[in-house]
Amino acid sequence: MTKVNTALSIGELKLANPVMVASGTFGFGEEYADLMDVNALGAVVTKGVSLEARRGNPPPRTIETPAGMLNSVGLENPGVEVFLRDKLPWLRKIKPAVIVNIFGSTIEEYGRLAQRLDGQEGIDALEVNISCPNVKQGGIAFGSDADLAYQVSAHVAKSCHLPVLVKCSPNVTDLVAIAKRVADAGVAGLTLINTLRGMAIDYRTGRPMLGNGIGGLSGPAIRPVAIRAVFEVCAAVDLPVVGCGGIVQWQDAVEFMRAGACAVQVGSATFRNPKTANGVLAGMTAFAAEQGLHSTQSLMVTAHAKSVPTGDRKEPGA
Ligand SMILES: Cc1cc2nc3c(=O)[nH]c(=O)nc-3n(C[C@H](O)[C@H](O)[C@H](O)COP(=O)(O)O)c2cc1C
Repeated sequence: MTKVNTALSIGELKLANPVMVASGTFGFGEEYADLMDVNALGAVVTKGVSLEARRGNPPPRTIETPAGMLNSVGLENPGVEVFLRDKLPWLRKIKPAVIVNIFGSTIEEYGRLAQRLDGQEGIDALEVNISCPNVKQGGIAFGSDADLAYQVSAHVAKSCHLPVLVKCSPNVTDLVAIAKRVADAGVAGLTLINTLRGMAIDYRTGRPMLGNGIGGLSGPAIRPVAIRAVFEVCAAVDLPVVGCGGIVQWQDAVEFMRAGACAVQVGSATFRNPKTANGVLAGMTAFAAEQGLHSTQSLMVTAHAKSVPTGDRKEPGA
């Protein structure tokens, strides 16, 4: 069997392998220490951290859907100071890279968070969640406007020395236009995608099923949307892309790499089987070996070969 090198770099961020766990689906890591092999991961992406603690949304916060789940956790977290004091010490001891997911309600808040996390031992990179409302501009999500997405990304990149990944929202008309602007912001890479806005209503009562009414859809249902997003952005933007959305088994992760992603994140599948990310790496590595490839990175970009139709971004049937 061919010996497969799994290592990769995303800018200055060095990873032992391309399999991460997605923000908000793995707590701060310690919760999963007895349930799976945390040290076999390429990176742990933490739950979203804000400057101040947040209590999140009223229950129910999650419900099952036919091919995934809806959540309205509302970015509950203990705030950056408690994170540094109580959560980071454990994360410092693990082998995988530690990527802290951050969010705020103003550009300045994002910058202050980046400054506070900069230079802290044990933090290898930041992931910026831009699917949040900008309170200074009538609540429009940073990630839904190319200029705002650029401004917040550039501000975070300038406020720290850490490699920065920008996690884009799929709830936009033209993700490629947004990704192109973010690519000029001095960031190391992009994570695609966050959850899709969704809702479920109890047909008996007519009431929304989630306490917050609207929530985020994740799981297998969103994978084709995520694959399309990665494929289109990789064709248009010269930045490393981390693929996320609906990965349940290793074949799904390889699909993301074929679309151009250099790494992947396993999200809500971890709730059903905490070992999912471990299985994804094992399966992907065995597949690469079987194909005679010397690295998992060689699994990338096949779908961009000239002979493959690009769909030239027309609406289906148009
Ligand atoms: C319960 C839950 C909480 C999440 N919290 C965050 C978060 O704090 N920050 C963030 O950027 N994404 C968050 N996400 C989005 C995931 O990181 C991921 O982008 C999304 O779930 C799609 O991947 P999946 O289909 O594999 O779950 C959350 C998702 C879920 C299901």
